[in-house]
Amino acid sequence: MTAKVRHYLRFDDFTRQEYEHLFERTRWIKERFKRYERYWPLEDRTLAMIFEKQSTRTRLSFEAGMHQLGGAAIFLATRDSQLGRGEPVEDMAQVVSRMCDVVMIRTFEQETLSRFARSSRVPVINGLTNEYHPCQILADIYTYGEQRGPIRGRTVAWIGDSNNVCNTWLQAAQVFDFKLHVSTPPGYEVEPERMVGNCEPFADPMSAARGADLVTTDVWTSMGFEAENEERRRDFEAWQVDAEMMRAAKRDALFMHCLPAHRGEEVAAEVIDGPQSVVWDEAENRLHTQKALLEYLLLGKLE
Ligand code: CP
Ligand code: NVA
Repeated sequence: MTAKVRHYLRFDDFTRQEYEHLFERTRWIKERFKRYERYWPLEDRTLAMIFEKQSTRTRLSFEAGMHQLGGAAIFLATRDSQLGRGEPVEDMAQVVSRMCDVVMIRTFEQETLSRFARSSRVPVINGLTNEYHPCQILADIYTYGEQRGPIRGRTVAWIGDSNNVCNTWLQAAQVFDFKLHVSTPPGYEVEPERMVGNCEPFADPMSAARGADLVTTDVWTSMGFEAENEERRRDFEAWQVDAEMMRAAKRDALFMHCLPAHRGEEVAAEVIDGPQSVVWDEAENRLHTQKALLEYLLLGKLE
């Protein structure tokens, strides 16, 4: 191998310039797709998708995206692969990366993903770990740009759990230079080392939402933490994004949620189904942004 393989394991693996490029490519790819124009730069390329957790959007968007780019995608679930019977992740990486051109993994520990990437000859993409969900925020920031222009200098309010999606927003605030208000219930605070630069913690979720350009949240209980469900429902009660909280934000503030959502828990139905919500565009843009990501990782910077 000559060139160093690029992976996408965390949001800050790419620079702002690289994101600007990805967004340009996304616009172009999306427009062509909407006009039913064939674009097959990844003909004969194969994506392996390894899922250790459930998924709707991530699987669909990567599988459909690869197909639309002229390539193929193979779905592997833990229980159907030798990974589920204890085959070392490094051995799996050796084998998969000799047969496929790019790999997407959804797993528990970020370290599992990093170990896979270290033994892989081909690019590895984080399809969600307990720590990060970079593909989600890639789509979210593109969606913000489509609706309201560049996110730089704006204020984003994160209301809820200090989870993988929150950690990724924290990295994005550094890369894109926007302000991030974070409000989590007591006992669920973000680790202090993640709260750097433009990030500000708020004990009161209403104060966090005040003046925000974008209000965003996620489930109270992430995959892998189901045993804490009941306790979390109690602890997070005051952290629901409802109409009153949206009124504290700017008049033209957007609402985002990575989905799946629980109406009546982290978000009120009138908010997620209301006029400020862009959750369906956000979900659709997973497809277009990840097609640009696959193109970039496999073919480099196309003009
Ligand atoms: N937002 C997201 O990643 O959804 P899935 O869990 O359905 O893939
Ligand atoms: N934080 C959620 C995101 C799901 C897309 C989870 O990890 O389950």
